[in-house]
Order: sequence, then structure tokens, then C-alpha cells
Amino acid sequence: MLRIDGDIARTYCPPAPRAPEEPLRLFRLLAALKRNPLECWSAAFFREPIAKVRLPFADAFLVHDPNAIRHVLVDNADNYRKDPIQRRILANGLSDGLLSVEDARWEAQRRVLAPLFARRTVMSFTQAMLTAVDGVTKRWGSLGRGAMIDVAAEMALLTLNVLALTIFSDGIAGDYNEFRDAMNAYFAVIGRIGVLDLLGVPQSVPRPGGGRLRRTMHYFEGIIDRIIDTRRGRLAALPADETPADLLTLLLRAPDPSTGQSMSLAEVRSNILTFLSAGHETTANALSWSIFLLSQSPDWRARVREEAARELAGPLEGLADRLVVTRAAVEEALRLYPPIAALSRMAKDADTLGGIAVKPRGLIVIAPYVLHRHRLLWEQPDAFDPSRFMPGRRGTIGRFAYLPFGIGPRICIGASFALQEATIALAALTQRFDLELAPDAKVWPLQKITLRPENGLPMRVTPRDCGEGPPERFEE
Ligand code: HEM
Repeated sequence: MLRIDGDIARTYCPPAPRAPEEPLRLFRLLAALKRNPLECWSAAFFREPIAKVRLPFADAFLVHDPNAIRHVLVDNADNYRKDPIQRRILANGLSDGLLSVEDARWEAQRRVLAPLFARRTVMSFTQAMLTAVDGVTKRWGSLGRGAMIDVAAEMALLTLNVLALTIFSDGIAGDYNEFRDAMNAYFAVIGRIGVLDLLGVPQSVPRPGGGRLRRTMHYFEGIIDRIIDTRRGRLAALPADETPADLLTLLLRAPDPSTGQSMSLAEVRSNILTFLSAGHETTANALSWSIFLLSQSPDWRARVREEAARELAGPLEGLADRLVVTRAAVEEALRLYPPIAALSRMAKDADTLGGIAVKPRGLIVIAPYVLHRHRLLWEQPDAFDPSRFMPGRRGTIGRFAYLPFGIGPRICIGASFALQEATIALAALTQRFDLELAPDAKVWPLQKITLRPENGLPMRVTPRDCGEGPPERFEE
């Protein structure tokens, strides 16, 4: 159990569905799953370590007991594979990328890709991240005082820009808006969970939207292939120290440390798209929720501002590590609104979980949304209190009680990239702007692939008179 200090009574409980006392009956459950899966969780799930639910095609085990989570995701992870629904939702059309592949192919890809997201590499992207935040600063600064913006849409643009600058360094070739529209179309199709999915009908049976998905994938592949061709030409022609130091160069150069083999074109292409899709909406939502929560909490906003004023003026080296308060605010936003609200797995062989028998093909659901608000694991679970993540208290949070990035072998490869990006962007934007929620805004969490604010996040933006523009070292 976590210790919470005395001033918790003053903390703010942000909007979230009220869990019904009675579990939903099948028809209402299916309707809620389609509309907003967050509304499916009845009160017992937030109190019970493990619950078993009968679905039309299999038993589902809703697992929020830290020991059982450890068993599924770490100790006996080989027995629990990603299930078809999760793959369809998170990585539709990206069958050759790290999110989808399994077994030896996954091991080989993870070995090749891990160094691309190592701490040193991620730290080297600090300038690119600041450059992207500067783009937002300029755009917002050019609007009139108190202009209305949709922060959720703005953060989606920002995170796409960060990925473009770090993967391709010179941005995405072609029309940026067209690319963003195609990304939206892709998310609209993959996010569709229909009755066929819920009934367990095999993925080989065509689903609505399949044609649109194929056209969108074809469009992406065309763009990525052109970029790869150009880069391969440059890599062959230029000495190593003159080629762009971005993820694409690393990806095309990186051989598997144990076999010396490079990835196939299909794998490189699929992984670029995997990074773009897995790292874009997720980080944008983390940032949107962080901005929203700070807008409702003057004390924490003031603390973030004070820290940002001090640290953004310092050296680039180690910047994200020095933004301790800001990072705590981001981690608390990830607790209350985890962008990936539920993970699932399917049992290969029979097993036992917390004394309950699991048959082969049993579906395991671990919902960070429920885990992070679980009554047995957190005090004041629904309250916004970043001090839980401040040094000294951070260590009291159980390793398996907080999983915004998953855990075990399939843990998010981009976790430190995302945390660094969100922390730096939140600090800079909070320091430079007043962001005030539109008076008529109805903020509500909607789980649609990622956990996003339904209807966006309309806010009034006003540049703050903090006596400085972006520091001079920021690139235009
Ligand atoms: C706040 C932002 C992010 C959140 C909350 C998040 C969350 C997650 C979660 C929960 C998983 C594990 C899924 C599972 O176990 O079933 C995952 C996997 C993954 N994420 Fe992230 N992610 C974020 C940002 C990123 C970024 C920035 C990238 C890349 C640029 C990325 C790339 C991936 C990949 C490739 C995997 C699959 C790893 C594997 O299976 O080996 N993610 N992410």
C-alpha cells in the first residue's frame, strides 16, 4: 500500500467513468465494448485481484494481481502470446514489424532494434525533440492572445513531427498533411472492433474496411520505399561521418549481433511504420492528458514552471533527467490515463493463475487502466497526485502495479524515448504558454485504440510573458 501525504485531500480527481456496482450483462457489455471499453469495468474489477468472465468463444481472466501479472508477462511469458484481437487493434497491416512478430523472428528483430532505443541514442534526440516543440511554440505564438486550439490535435502533430525528425532527420518526404490524413485513416480502420472479432471469428475472414486499409498501407509503403532507396544511395556514396545520424541510418546499417544479418526490406519498412503508429498517438495522448491535468492543478503547474525555467536554460546534456517534477506529472498522467488501457494475451497450454485453472486458448486481459486505480494497490487511486512519482516515494510503487509500457520481454521498446519526449515538451510548453480549458469543454476519456480525450481538448492559449523567447540554441 502506498503512503500518501496529508495534503492529498486538496488533490483533484479528474473525469473517469463511474464503475457500476453490478457487472454488465452480455448485451450491454458488447455495446459498451464497442462504444467505450472503459465503461465495461464494474466496481468489483477494481477490488478483485483476478476475475473470470465467460465470453462466447472462451473464458477471459481479468488479471490485476501483481504476482499473477508477473507470471503471465515475465515468468511464464512463453505460454502467453499476443492474441489476435490485440494484434488487429495495435498492428493491423504491420505483420512484419516488432509489435506483431513472434518467436525466433521477434527475438532477432528485438536484438537488432534494441540499440536504436538505448539510453545514449535516445538522449542524442533531445535537440530534435526541442526543435519540434519550437515549431509548436512558433505556431501558437503567432495566434492572437487567447486563441482557441485543440491541444489533442496539436500534440498529435508534435509527436508525428518528433518521429519524422528522429527517424528520417530531414522529415517526411512529400506532403506532410497528406501523410497525417493517411495516418488518421489507418487508425480509423484498425480501431474498428466488430462483432466478428468479439465472437472470435478467425482473422482470415475479411472484415469491413479491409480495402481502405490496403490502400492506406500501399500509400505508406510507397513513401517509405522512396525514402529508403534515397538513403541507401547516400549510405553507399558517403563516408560514415557524413550520413544522417537518425533511426533510418541505424536501421539500415544494424546487423543482428549474433548472425551478422541485416533486416529484409519488408522488415525495415514494417518497423518504420510500427514506430510511427506505436509512438505517435500514444505519446500525443500522454502529453494531452498531462496538459489537461496541469490546467486543473495550479500548484503542480507552478512547480513545473519553476523547474522548467531553471532547467531549460541549462545544458542539453541530461535535460530530461533534471526535469524531475515534470516527469512525475507525466508519470501520474500515464497512471490515470494509460494510453494503452488494456493488454491481452492468449494461453498456449493449460496453466494455473492464482489458484484458478486456465485452459489452452484462455484469454488474459491485464488492463493498466484498472491496475493503476486498483483499490488494493493505491491510496486515493482516482486523485491526481504526481508526488507519488517523486524521488523517495517512487520506490514504494510495486514493479507490477504500474505498467503504462507493459513489462517483460514485450515491454515497450520506445518507453524512454516517449518519456523523454513528453517530459521535455510538457516543460517547455507549460513554461511558455497559459493553457486554459475552454469553459464549455466536456473532457472525457475514450478508449479507441489509445486512451484519448473524447472530442479533443479545446483550450485557450496565451503566450506567457516569461521575459524570453525560445533560447537561442533552438534551431529555427
Ligand atoms: C507514452 C507512449 C507510449 C506508450 C504508453 C506505449 C505503450 C506500449 C505498451 C503497453 C506496449 C506493450 C504491449 C504488450 O505487451 O502487449 C508497447 C510496445 C511497443 N511499443 Fe510502445 N508505447 C509508447 C510509445 C512508443 C514509442 C515512442 C515507440 C517507438 C518509436 C513505441 C514502439 C513500441 C513497439 C515497437 C512495441 C512492441 C515491442 C515488442 O513487442 O517487442 N512505443 N508500447
